Amino acid sequence: MQTTVMPNYARQPVTFVKGDGALLWDTQGKRYLDALSGIAVCGLGHSHPAITEAICEQAKRLMHTSNLYGIAHQQALADALVRITGMESAFFCNSGAEANETALKIARLYGHHQGKNQPTVIVTEGSFHGRTLATLTATGNPKVQVGFAPLLEGFVRVPYNDVNAMAAVAEQHSDIVAVLVEPVMGEGGIVIPDEDYLSKVRALCDHHNWLLMLDEIQTGMGRTGQWCAYQQTDIFPDVLTLAKGLGNGVPIGACLARGKVAELLQPGTHGSTFGGNPLVCRAALAVIETIEQDNLRQRAEKLGQRFYQGFLKALEGTAGVREIRVKGLMIGIELDKPCGQLVSQALEKQLLINVTAERVVRLLPPLILSDAQADEIISTVSQLIRAFLNSNL
Ligand SMILES: Cc1ncc(COP(=O)(O)O)c(C=O)c1O
Repeated sequence: MQTTVMPNYARQPVTFVKGDGALLWDTQGKRYLDALSGIAVCGLGHSHPAITEAICEQAKRLMHTSNLYGIAHQQALADALVRITGMESAFFCNSGAEANETALKIARLYGHHQGKNQPTVIVTEGSFHGRTLATLTATGNPKVQVGFAPLLEGFVRVPYNDVNAMAAVAEQHSDIVAVLVEPVMGEGGIVIPDEDYLSKVRALCDHHNWLLMLDEIQTGMGRTGQWCAYQQTDIFPDVLTLAKGLGNGVPIGACLARGKVAELLQPGTHGSTFGGNPLVCRAALAVIETIEQDNLRQRAEKLGQRFYQGFLKALEGTAGVREIRVKGLMIGIELDKPCGQLVSQALEKQLLINVTAERVVRLLPPLILSDAQADEIISTVSQLIRAFLNSNL
């Protein structure tokens, strides 16, 4: 059938018309529990009153003027992000891919300033950084790249969680300028690296004068129990990208920088028409305020422990469950076989979940989830997994 929307998404046969907290209602009035938050976007749940009020108030006052003029809410948001992350400057855009494009442009510019004419960025296998040409080239999943050759030059790939492989690259390439890496791989299957991975990558970057660029688009904004996952270590990145949870549904991305690259992007080097307009910045400010006021980082950490313990218990001894991985409210249950059909089976039970990397059940529930809702998710997902594994014996 011809459709007027391009058929680039495989959609579930349901349309939602209303949301409240962790709950959604479809066109038939059926209620669902949302354990995915629009893929880590609505961390404060749906229709959060503080965010709704900020958006409505700002929409009535002023939405857009362009970056040709001062924008007070953009300045306030940059100040707030600098305060909570320890970074020094911020550029605003509209999506995660665009935030990563900004990071990659910073890396190239940084390289050229050092006389490196083929500035090259180290990226990892299994990563996901977006769908634009540069970010799909950076992405470590061939499925994202197929059909879109020629890919961009200037990338070299190493296995995730392998600092020695990164160090070896330094021996072969003289034009490395940066490392771009996710602190926990989200689309890649909730892959949590060794505790000292980021510190070791930081040390390697310092040794070679490379930039450490962290993609915290999925891990950021409180989801892992801190504003950003690197805050559980003692390091800082040089470049940090955020999007998803930053706007709770309002499209906004940010690229933050620090130290020698904080002021690299000078007038004329980069821009985005909508980037950081009064409407989205006001919404993002309300998101930060709410996460702070309601202690939602601590809540994410606590809920994460509840999920971990709950799934350990509920799935104990279940053959076919390979690993349960939890970092705050990034939850992955790896099975020993592809399990995409669990998504529609969960939907039938009025629960939204996701499967990524073919065999990893991924949950990214909102930070405002109640204990009872968490327990309901644990119980439904565990039952579905057990039934799925039994039926496939
Ligand atoms: C880690 C990471 N980086 C980048 C992106 C791309 O973000 P967007 O879809 O907003 O362009 C995603 C999206 O899933 C992501 O998870």
